[in-house]
Amino acid sequence: MGSEHYENGMNIVVRPADPEDAASIKALNALSMATLRKIYRPNKAALDNKSLLAACLNRLVATSEGQIVGTVQWYKEDELLRVMGLGVHPDFRRWGVARELVASLCLIGQEQGATRLRLYTVKETGNVGLFARLGFLVLSEREDQFSESDHYSMLTEVEMERPLTGCASPSSSPPASTLGNF
Ligand SMILES: CC(C)(COP(=O)(O)OP(=O)(O)OC[C@H]1O[C@@H](n2cnc3c(N)ncnc32)[C@H](O)[C@@H]1OP(=O)(O)O)[C@@H](O)C(=O)NCCC(=O)NCCS
Repeated sequence: MGSEHYENGMNIVVRPADPEDAASIKALNALSMATLRKIYRPNKAALDNKSLLAACLNRLVATSEGQIVGTVQWYKEDELLRVMGLGVHPDFRRWGVARELVASLCLIGQEQGATRLRLYTVKETGNVGLFARLGFLVLSEREDQFSESDHYSMLTEVEMERPLTGCASPSSSPPASTLGNF
């Protein structure tokens, strides 16, 4: 699978990650997650959960001129495509990379027979509004049991969902309005 899209003149290609992408993805994750780590970090329970999921996680990468500039992970759970670990290189933000990754997840979800994308985000990051712009609706909010912070005594975990009806192709116009809290 691969999809190509020109966003403000930037050629974004989304494809499944290859084993040889590992070092680039590690570097990208360090850069992209630095923004979040100023607000929170996953606690031991979250890291244990992620280890348990490792075998069923799939990964997409978004590239521009051959450079990996964004990534996201997903797995199927009944009718849901669960989304985690969305991150875009700081130098490539606000160019539609996340939107393109989400559009690709929509297609994968449809191919896999899922009806919704679903994700968790931490309210204090400010990402609820961003995911709303990507078509996600808030399902629930509760005290976050999986994150810790040097700055907040309490964090709020927000579960959000995007229906998969009416998704546009990622290589044409992006969907009108997508998840992960690692
Ligand atoms: C969140 C993140 C993935 C967004 O990636 P991006 O490629 O810059 O996002 P896009 O350019 O596709 O923007 C998608 C929408 O969100 C909006 N948006 C993006 N960044 C935003 C910000 N900082 N504040 C408000 N809105 C924002 C865009 O305007 C766009 O909506 P629009 O098309 O209606 O204008 C990126 O900022 C990032 O990696 N942040 C650190 C890691 C993180 O927070 N990951 C999410 C974990 S839950």
